[in-house]
Parts: sequence; structure tokens; C-alpha cells
Amino acid sequence: MQDILDFKGRAVFVAGGSSGINLGIADAFAARGARVAVMSRSQDRVDAAVAHLGRHGGIACGFAGDVRNPAAVAEALQSAHAQLGDFDVLVSGAAGNFVSPALDMSPNGFKTVVDIDLLGTFNVLRQAHQFLRKPGASVISISAPQSFNPTIFQAHVCAAKAGVDMLTRVLAMEWGGDGIRVNSIVPGPIGDTEGIRRLAPTEETRRAMEATIPLGRMGTRQEVADMAMVLSSPLASFVTGAVIPVDGGSSLLGGRDYRETYKASAGAAAQHSSRSS
Ligand code: NAP
Ligand code: COA
Repeated sequence: MQDILDFKGRAVFVAGGSSGINLGIADAFAARGARVAVMSRSQDRVDAAVAHLGRHGGIACGFAGDVRNPAAVAEALQSAHAQLGDFDVLVSGAAGNFVSPALDMSPNGFKTVVDIDLLGTFNVLRQAHQFLRKPGASVISISAPQSFNPTIFQAHVCAAKAGVDMLTRVLAMEWGGDGIRVNSIVPGPIGDTEGIRRLAPTEETRRAMEATIPLGRMGTRQEVADMAMVLSSPLASFVTGAVIPVDGGSSLLGGRDYRETYKASAGAAAQHSSRSS
């Protein structure tokens, strides 16, 4: 019987793919036979990710670049395309976050997160269009519950991820005629990730977060990757413009309250403001 999640012969590009959830997605596709490329700012992290992905025995390559820089994005996409061919799957997941009241965010602090998450996603999707398999490509942006749940001390992420999901819907309409499907995955709290280290930095905040998740636990990177693979398979051939939570029901509760997190990370914030003053 044919394995519907077999990605042998397929090419996958993951922006922000050197760690965490995005690396988990690249790894899951590589484990199922895909040729994969990752891009992020740090050459060291890219090299480590490529070595990790290479253990599956297929082609893995990586490029250092900042998604805020359109020229760097274009160069990475071109180089990856030269090695892998047309992309069957494109994932945009680079993001930045810190917990802060809006009044303590400088214009540049707010802009930095919007630039990475939203402008970065536009740069990646817009410039990758020429390299996507048509028809057939699956484009996935990694969003967050802040996209639709107003969340205290997350003004920048709320604004940025809401924009990302609107971009998903608009491009699903504009690119549907090319046979390209465009969707967002909204991970809930995923254990052992940088996002959770920032949003639930202490044992106490982590336990409080877990206690509110309807399924009673944080998710895994594999569970997010599983949704990315399903979305990129024939099982989802009529799914486009969708914003899909993979969150154990967590986002049903509405926006989280990060005031305790902010207090718990007051040391880090104080250090931050003394560095930047
Ligand atoms: P992470 O490990 O910090 O992943 C972020 C990745 O983006 C890193 O590989 C980072 O590598 C790269 N990156 C950051 N800024 C970049 C830039 N300007 N240009 C290019 N690459 C950049 O975080 P994560 O927690 O796994 O989060 C991954 C995604 O899931 C994000 O989109 C996040 O919003 C979303 N998400 C996470 C959770 C969670 O529970 N963790 C929940 C909801 C949504 P470099 O430092 O080398 O650039
Ligand atoms: N509170 C308030 N403002 C902060 C802040 C904090 N904790 N951390 C950074 N900022 C502000 C800075 O002060 C600066 O503004 P300024 O120039 O007015 O002082 C602005 O944000 C940019 O900071 P900088 O450190 O120069 O940005 P960067 O581009 O090097 O890094 C970040 C981007 C800040 C998002 C950094 O945390 C990062 O690289 N994150 C990637 C990993 C991540 O966040 N993973 C989780 C994904 S969910």
C-alpha cells in the first residue's frame, strides 16, 4: 500500500529552521525522505541543524540569513533551489518574542518583532513563489494563538501574527489558481522550546500554563510536524487559507495573562533595560 506521508523526491525549505518547532518540521520531512533546506541568522546554528538533518541520509543544506533582509532571503532561496529543485513545501517560521508591557516597548522593540514575524514571512513567501512547484506546492506559516487571542504583554506578537494569518488567507486566494495551497499552523504551548522558555520561564509558570490546557499537557514538536506533513500530503488537497491550531485546546481559553511571567522574568528585563539605557 502507498504511504501517503512518504516525501521521497520532495523538496522542503524551512525559514527559521535551525531550532525548535521549525527544525522539528524539517526533521520530520527529512525522516520521510525529503530533501531539506533551512535558513536562519546564525551560521553555527544552521551548520548544527544541517548535521542533525543529514543523519537521515538524504540531502540537507542550510543558509545563514536574516528574513528581514529581502536580498538575503532571495540568495538563500536561490541557492536552495539550485540544490533541491522546485519546492514542494515551504515553511515560514522565523520569529522573535519577549514579554513586555506595550508602554515598555520602544518603537524599535515593537518593530523588531513585526519585522521578523510578519515582514519576514512576506519576504519568504513572496520571493519563494517563483521556486514553488506549480501545481502542488504546500506553503505553511507558523503562527501563534496571539494572532486571534488578544494577549497581555504581547502587543507586538499579536499584531505580527494576526498579519501573518491574514497574509495566509490573501495568498491562498491569489495563488490558488497556480495550484498552491497556503495555510497557517498555530502551535499551542510546545514543551522544550525557546518560545516556552520565554513565556513560562519558571517551574511555577510552566505548571500554571500546563494546568489550563484542556488536554492537560504541552505539545511536542513532532505533533506540530505531523500537522505540517498532513497539510502537505494528498490528505489535505482541498485545504487552503486555513488557520489550524495544534494546541490541545489551549487557545479556546482566550488570551493568556503574562503578568506573572513578566514578574518572574523581572531580573532579565531589568538587565535588558540597563543594557539598552
Ligand atoms: P526558536 O527555537 O527560537 O525558533 C526560531 C527560529 O527562527 C530559530 O531557528 C532562529 O534562528 C530563527 N530566527 C529568528 N529570527 C530570525 C531572523 N530574523 N531571520 C531568520 N531566522 C530567524 O522558537 P520556537 O519556540 O521553536 O518557535 C518557532 C515558531 O513557532 C515561531 O514562529 C513561534 O512564533 C511559533 N510558536 C511557538 C510556540 C512554542 O510553544 N514554542 C507556540 C506558538 C507559536 P537564529 O537565531 O539562528 O536566527
Ligand atoms: N523588553 C523590551 N524591549 C526589548 C526586549 C525586552 N525583553 N528585548 C529586546 N528589546 C528591544 C531592544 O531594546 C531593541 O529596541 P531599542 O533599539 O529601542 O533598544 C529592540 O527590541 C531590538 O533588540 P535587538 O536585541 O537589537 O534585536 P535582535 O534583532 O538582535 O533580536 C529579538 C530580536 C529581540 C526578538 C531576540 O530576542 C531574538 O533574536 N529572538 C529570536 C528567538 C525567539 O525569540 N524565539 C522565540 C520565538 S516564539
